[in-house]
Amino acid sequence: MKKKLCVIAMMAVLMLWGCTPDEKKAEAPPPKTMPTAVQVKDKAVEATVAAKEKLKEATKEVVEATKAVEEKVEEKIEQKQEQKDVVAVQEEKVEEATGAVEEKVAEKTEKKAEQEAAVAVQEEKVGEATKAVDEAVEGKAEQETAVADQEKKVETAEKVEKKAASVVEKEGQAVTTTVEIVVIDNNKGKVILSHKKHAEAYGCAACHGDQKPGPFKMEKDKAHALCQGCHKEKKAGPTTNCTQCHQKKDKKAIEGC
Ligand code: HEC
Ligand code: HEC
Ligand code: HEC
Repeated sequence: MKKKLCVIAMMAVLMLWGCTPDEKKAEAPPPKTMPTAVQVKDKAVEATVAAKEKLKEATKEVVEATKAVEEKVEEKIEQKQEQKDVVAVQEEKVEEATGAVEEKVAEKTEKKAEQEAAVAVQEEKVGEATKAVDEAVEGKAEQETAVADQEKKVETAEKVEKKAASVVEKEGQAVTTTVEIVVIDNNKGKVILSHKKHAEAYGCAACHGDQKPGPFKMEKDKAHALCQGCHKEKKAGPTTNCTQCHQKKDKKAIEGC
């Protein structure tokens, strides 16, 4: 019982003590380790100095870092600038090259145009020359035709003149003859001359010559020369075909006509 009471009493004391611990602590005297005000101040000063130093260091570091960054930035900027410069130079070069190319292209284009113009001029000249040649050829053809026409005319004129001359002959000689047919008898076979037809076509002088037309002597050679000569010249009338002039002897009937 004594023991139980003791425990209860202790618990009660403990409980009471435990209810006001703060008051008891506050009341408690400062610990023996607690620094004095001077000590606190010294410590604070020390801490401040340390902090200041740390701050200084930190500041220094920051400044250095900033410097480094700035340097790097500057470097970058410089590099950038250099690049820009390079780009600018490049651009300038490109511009120059472009200009040169453009100039060359312009030059080439101009030359091409000039050449084309020259070709066009040449073509025109060729065309003109061709035209001139064509015209000349045409002119030549026309001239030739004209010459041919002229020659024909001259020939015709000569013929007409000859005819007129031989027809008119001396002092209004007769243009024709009443003697229709002349029969020239010979041993080879009599020759029948279409006298009027020949007389009207070639005039009296062609056979009668300067003499007054009338009966005349011819004989073989003279007759052949006169008759065949004109036929050959005119390319008409009998020449080597004897029977076209010389009638067969048995054809006496013609004489009778
Ligand atoms: C192709 C030649 C030829 C021509 C051209 C010609 N005669 Fe003759 N003529 C003769 C011959 C040939 C005779 C006969 C000659 C003979 O036998 O003597 C003849 C005879 C004559 C005779 C004679 C007739 C007779 O019966 O005697 C007279 C006239 C005549 N001719 C007039 C003319 C007149 C005019 C012309 C021109 C208008 C003419 N003759 C043109 C060849 C020609
Ligand atoms: C100046 C030229 C000339 C002379 C000269 C001449 N003839 Fe001709 N004779 C002709 C021509 C041209 C023809 C062709 C006519 C035709 O085909 O229409 C021809 C045709 C003929 C013919 C064929 C048919 C015809 O038209 O009568 C006989 C035949 C002939 N002559 C005979 C004679 C005899 C013969 C003489 C010579 C006495 C003679 N001729 C002299 C020019 C001539
Ligand atoms: C264009 C006409 C003509 C032709 C073609 C012709 N003759 Fe004749 N021939 C005459 C006449 C005209 C005479 C007459 C001459 C005279 O007697 O005045 C003649 C005369 C002759 C005579 C002379 C006859 C005699 O009596 O002397 C002989 C030969 C002759 N002829 C041969 C020929 C032969 C061959 C040929 C052919 C190769 C020929 N003749 C072609 C016109 C012609």
